[in-house]
Formats: sequence, structure tokens, C-alpha cells
Amino acid sequence: MSTRTVIRNGLVVTAAEELAADVLIEGEQVVALAASGSSVAEGWTADREIDATGRYVIPGGVDAHTHMELPFGGTSASDTFETGTRAAAWGGTTTIVDFAVQSVGASLRDGLDTWHAKAQGNCAIDYGFHMILGDVTEDSLKEMDLLVGEGVTSFKLFMAYPGVFYSDDGRILRAMQRGADNGGLIMMHAENGIAIDVLVAQALAAGKTDPRYHGEVRHELLEAEATHRAIKLAQVAGAPLYVVHVSAASALAELATARDQGLNVFGETCPQYLFLSTDNLAEPGFEGAKYVCSTPLRPREHQAALWRGLRTNDLQVVSTDHCPFCFVGQKELGRGDFSKIPNGLPGVENRMDLLHQAVLDGHISRRRWIEIACATPARMFGLYPRKGTIAPGSDADIVIYDPAAVQTVSAATHHMNVDYSAYEGRQLTGQARTVLSRGTVVIDDGRYLGRPGHGRYQPRATCQYLI
Ligand code: URP
Ligand code: ZN
Ligand code: ZN
Repeated sequence: MSTRTVIRNGLVVTAAEELAADVLIEGEQVVALAASGSSVAEGWTADREIDATGRYVIPGGVDAHTHMELPFGGTSASDTFETGTRAAAWGGTTTIVDFAVQSVGASLRDGLDTWHAKAQGNCAIDYGFHMILGDVTEDSLKEMDLLVGEGVTSFKLFMAYPGVFYSDDGRILRAMQRGADNGGLIMMHAENGIAIDVLVAQALAAGKTDPRYHGEVRHELLEAEATHRAIKLAQVAGAPLYVVHVSAASALAELATARDQGLNVFGETCPQYLFLSTDNLAEPGFEGAKYVCSTPLRPREHQAALWRGLRTNDLQVVSTDHCPFCFVGQKELGRGDFSKIPNGLPGVENRMDLLHQAVLDGHISRRRWIEIACATPARMFGLYPRKGTIAPGSDADIVIYDPAAVQTVSAATHHMNVDYSAYEGRQLTGQARTVLSRGTVVIDDGRYLGRPGHGRYQPRATCQYLI
């Protein structure tokens, strides 16, 4: 007999509605919702009752962009699947979609098997995979079809990082054409990496070695240009396109123009672009290295455009691009040469709370918070309605969220395996109190009850968000 749980007296908030409702869970799934205090809800008996008075009952967060254990920049992201998914649970995220990597000369299968081996048995919450296409060849194009059949239904390509992940326009076009045929969604890192490398060499030759030059050489117009080019290539291929980690207002304008034309073009931004800026990159004493990521942080003025894009649905998703590197020993690899600072920021634990703060600050509505952090990423990547909502038949991935809890973000108290916080000292209102993953309580009012291996691999359907 499966465990019956009732969550009583909370405000259920989904992307679609807000209801004063009780939620009945049997085993791993939600089976019913009924108005709190109604005879139906009062009639429910359960093995476990959770009182959510004064709290929100929200779907677990879906973070569609993480890089646990990613080998990058001569080192590896410091969160393993075990530590990173545990931190995600603390922050109210119950599903991640991480990026498996195809290395040059290797097959997609090899890459995917390697990532399955890293994650299997180690995750505290459910997980899926995108595939990074590091080497677009006749064989890997064929393999894309097989992966789509196995639930790996999205493929990231890079217009940046020549010599590492970079694909030229011909390879990109071919992958897009294949995606148009097999339903795989192309995710694009849109920065003109060839031009950026010229600017990097020029900056270093001129003695400009500090972290802040990372932001200058990765010029916003080179993000906008690549975004424009990716859109046109997708249009030629007849393929939808999802642009990851959009940071520049001018790149967002390219997406908005394409969407006004009715194209299936989507955009993701990340908390770092909404809450941080080039001011952080310019912090003295090499502190700016903590904020080196690509696309880079932009001047503060870009933030208003990104918030507007989230309100107008020109941006659909906020993911973290969680790719942590410790300051000591990892970020420090780039002392004296900003181009050697490993690119990436921690954030998987902070996303839901930062976005709740954005609700309080008037940037987005409460339902939009759930839409951009839970429902749309689930739809975009073929996990809906199993994930991303609270409805009969959905997985019971549920967060009891205290909208009044005040917390101060700090590396001293966070659970990510990284020695600094990008949001150190920031006071946020709102915090996950109790977190259920498929009906199992993994966070219980400040106690971690989860375990590595509870999280299951989630094969995904193709994109459910096409216009
Ligand atoms: O700086 C970043 N974003 N690191 C992770 C790799 C990527 O491009 O997403
Ligand atoms: Zn990227
Ligand atoms: Zn990334």
C-alpha cells in the first residue's frame, strides 16, 4: 500500500491559478485537489498530514540548465550530481536537466553513457539530460535520432569556444535540419566565438588581464549578432530554436523580433543576469573572477530589458546555468589572464528564492514566477505535466514555501559545494520549508531527509511549447 499524504491549508500556486486547496498524494503522485475546508478535503484520511497554513504550495522547481561535474577550462565544476542535486532540493528545485557532453571524435552514445554513470545512484532529485553536440558529423547526426527516442530531446550547440565546443554555421545548420526532422530542440550558446578570440588576444597583448576584461571582449553585439545568425539558420532549417543564457538587451531584441514574426524562437535567461552586473566583474583584488561566466554579466541597464522580456514572454525560462568553480584553486587559474578563469557561476540553490524576491520587488507576478521556473521549463523540455505543475496525475514534486521567511544568502550556510556565493550577504524574503520529490519528503523544515539515488532519470518527450 502506498503512503497517503495530505497537504492542508496552503495557497496552491501554479502557472495557471492560485487556489486555497488541500492536496492529496498517493505514493509518488498527486491524486486530487479540493478546496480547503470542503467536505471532500475534510473526508480525506492520510498517513501523513502536512500543515501549510500561511505558506504557498508550489510545484518543485525545474532547472533546465545545470552542469554538475562538467570538465571545463582545465578543471571540473565543483558540484557532483550528489552535492548539486542535494543543494537544488534545499532551494526548492526537484528536477534538473543537465548537459551530457559529446567530445570531439567520440560518439553521442559514449558521452551519454558517461553522464548516466556520473548521475546514476547519486541524485537526490529527478534528472534528465540534454546533449552537447561537440562534434557534428554524419554519425553524430544519425545518433541524434536514437537519443530523441531515448528521451534526450534537446541538443546544445556552441557558436563560442573555438577549439572546444565550437560548431561552424554549416554544422549548426545540419544539426538544425536534423532536429527539424526528429523533433530534437536545438539550444544555442549564441556568441561569436571567432571574433571574441581576436578581442581576447588583443586585450591580453595590451596588458588587460583582469576579470573585468572578460566582460569587455565578450561584447554584447557579438551576442546579438550570433543570436540573429542562429535565428536565421533555424529559419532556413525550419527548426525551432532555444537560446540559452541570454544576457544582452540587444540579443533579446533579436528574439523579440523573431517572435513577432511568429517564429518558434525561445529564450532563457539566468538569475546572474537579472541580479548581478559588470560592477561585480570589476570588484577589486581578483574578486571579479567569481562572476566570470559566458555569456558575461552585462552593465546594470540590461536588467530592466530582461525583466521586461520575462513579463512579455519574449523570454520564457529562467534556469541557472549552474556551473560552480571554487574561488581558491579553480577561479584562481586565471590570475594574470582572465581567459583562463573557468567560466561559470553557482546558483542551483538560489534560483527559486531570487525569483520569489523578484515577485516581491514587482518584476513578475506570483504565477509568472511558477511559469518561468517550473511549468515552462517542463513544457519546453517535454516533462509536462509530470513535472512543473500540481494536478491529478502529476509527480508529487511539491514545495511548501514560506513567503515571509527572511534569509541572508551566504557560502557559510549554502549547500552547494563551492567556496563562495555569487549573492553573498543578499537578504531575500521567501524560502522552501518542506520539499517533496515524488511524494518523498527530502527537506523537512530545515532538515535534509533525502538520499543519493532517490532521484530518477527522466526520459523526456519532445518540446511541448511550440507555437
Ligand atoms: O559560463 C558558463 N556559462 N559556463 C557553462 C558552460 C556554458 O556555456 O553554458
Ligand atoms: Zn553556454
Ligand atoms: Zn551552460
